[in-house]
Amino acid sequence: MSQKNKLNITVFKRLLSYWKLYKGLFIVAVGCVLALAILGPSRPYFIGRMVDLYIVKSQNGEMLIAWTLIIIGILIFDAVFQFLSTYFSNLFAQSIIRDLRKELMSRMLSFRMQYFDRTPIGALVTRVVSDLEAITEVFSSGIMAIVGDLISLIVVVSLMFWSSWQLSLMTLIPIPLLIVATRLFARYIRKSFQMERDQVTRLNTFVQERITGISLVQLFNRQDQEYKIFQGINAKHRQAHIKAIWANSIFFPVVEMLSSFSIAFLLVWTAQRVGNSDSKDVGLMFGETISFVLWIHMLYRPIRQLADKFNILQRGTVRAERVFEIIDREDHIQNDGVLTDCKFDQSISFNNLYFAYNNEDWVLKNINLKIQPGTTVAFVGSTGAGKSSLVNLIGRFYEYQKGSILFGNTELSEIELNYLRKNIAIVLQDVFLFSESVFNNITLGDPSISREDVVAASKAVGAHDFIMKLPGGYDYEVGERGGVLSTGQRQLLSFIRVYVYDPYILILDEATSSIDNESEELIQKATKKLTEGRTSIVIAHRLSTIQTANKIVVLDKGEIKEQGTHAELLDLEGYYRVLYDMQFSE
Ligand SMILES: Nc1ncnc2c1ncn2[C@@H]1O[C@H](COP(=O)(O)OP(=O)(O)OP(=O)(O)O)[C@@H](O)[C@H]1O
Ligand SMILES: [Mg+2]
Repeated sequence: MSQKNKLNITVFKRLLSYWKLYKGLFIVAVGCVLALAILGPSRPYFIGRMVDLYIVKSQNGEMLIAWTLIIIGILIFDAVFQFLSTYFSNLFAQSIIRDLRKELMSRMLSFRMQYFDRTPIGALVTRVVSDLEAITEVFSSGIMAIVGDLISLIVVVSLMFWSSWQLSLMTLIPIPLLIVATRLFARYIRKSFQMERDQVTRLNTFVQERITGISLVQLFNRQDQEYKIFQGINAKHRQAHIKAIWANSIFFPVVEMLSSFSIAFLLVWTAQRVGNSDSKDVGLMFGETISFVLWIHMLYRPIRQLADKFNILQRGTVRAERVFEIIDREDHIQNDGVLTDCKFDQSISFNNLYFAYNNEDWVLKNINLKIQPGTTVAFVGSTGAGKSSLVNLIGRFYEYQKGSILFGNTELSEIELNYLRKNIAIVLQDVFLFSESVFNNITLGDPSISREDVVAASKAVGAHDFIMKLPGGYDYEVGERGGVLSTGQRQLLSFIRVYVYDPYILILDEATSSIDNESEELIQKATKKLTEGRTSIVIAHRLSTIQTANKIVVLDKGEIKEQGTHAELLDLEGYYRVLYDMQFSE
């Protein structure tokens, strides 16, 4: 076996240790599986004995009926345990997976931005959804089935040898062949599964990307080319599936054939003995032969399936390794702050602040700035100057390397993180909306916010009329990522959010893309309303928005170039003047 096909024992053990979360369920499930493993093989034994004792030997009608009832009873028990073991194994598996998924999701939700910057969303979705599904199988159909199959194999073989070791040996002759066939099949099927999975991923990614980027595809008339690429991927996808199906369709007839050989050997041996014995013995072989024919089926099924089950364990373990890798990550912002009573109506000061996303590649350099409580400070500067980065630091989405940010005299990191974020609202440059109603997008599911609050807030912000024009008003579903709303409308929704949450500090990162005049006017009014009497930081792309700001800060390549009021900066005849003249001449 190659290295790749080996089970990672450490991970496997760790995965199995989750059984302890549901000890009771586990014991019940294993109990049912064991009962089933013992009940099943005992039935052929009873049938054989019944035939020998009450048909061949004594023709006792009453006992025959009694035994038949017993066998029916065993069958009923068998069915009941079949149900119970399926039910409890799955209940056990699903309970563990629910917990594991919760653990995974809660870890992921607290990771810092930097983690999400470099991890593809698709990979994380795969972890939470399909990887965990593969892990479920380890518990539901993996270990449980292996335990059940092994026990039932042992019981079958023991009963066989106990009945007749010669017959047993005869029937076992094709078993080595079965084992070889199973191993060959397992190896082949593993490869084709791998291929299948790769092709499914390719197909998924392709379809998802083209549909997301459909406007680009249509705009540049790429339909035909994309369709051609798609055909290629689709054909490969089919090929991969056919490969797996091919292996299956050969393997199962081969197994059937081998089991027929076992029966054939059994019958040949029996015929041999019939020829050599006197009539009394011959009768007694009758029931035994029936038992063996039934056992042969019970022997082949588990051996055939063992390879499959091992694949399930292996696949689950590989996926579990990836899941544990995320669970074990220490990739969140340190929340060592303990202050939950910090006053936010104090000045915010930046002192000799340096920040880089990647070590020493400074995005912000030597920032010194003081923002007085209740005032509005505006940031302007060319694209990539570091404006969004600066405000992200205040919400502690990233951590700066040098210098300090203080609220009054309190360092940012001394404040408890959730408390800090509760008092700061950030309207992001790209407003993200969930594919839910307008109302839910404003409250973000906070049940303490009533519909009246929301309506009042949108009236205050000036967005009520536009929302009422949407079909369904506040119940309008905004589509994935808010796709059916314009950029300006989306920003207005996030303004309402801020108004409802009523934070001490407002950070507003204006959308860069152009906004229609009507929305522009609404946004300006809303901005005015929101910044009133609140410490506010506004990143503006249209200088018209910020002329009344208490202070304007010009950022360039991560450094503060100028700061002052609108009038002061114009007088300075510097960078701001150039920007202003440029926009004014438009
Ligand atoms: N998540 C990130 N990881 C690494 N680098 C980043 C990240 N976000 C921004 N940067 C880089 O940091 C620099 C400043 O970006 P930032 O988004 O702060 O600019 P900005 O002033 O907000 O620009 P704009 O006006 O276009 O919004 C840019 O060079 C950008 O490439
Ligand atoms: Mg920005």
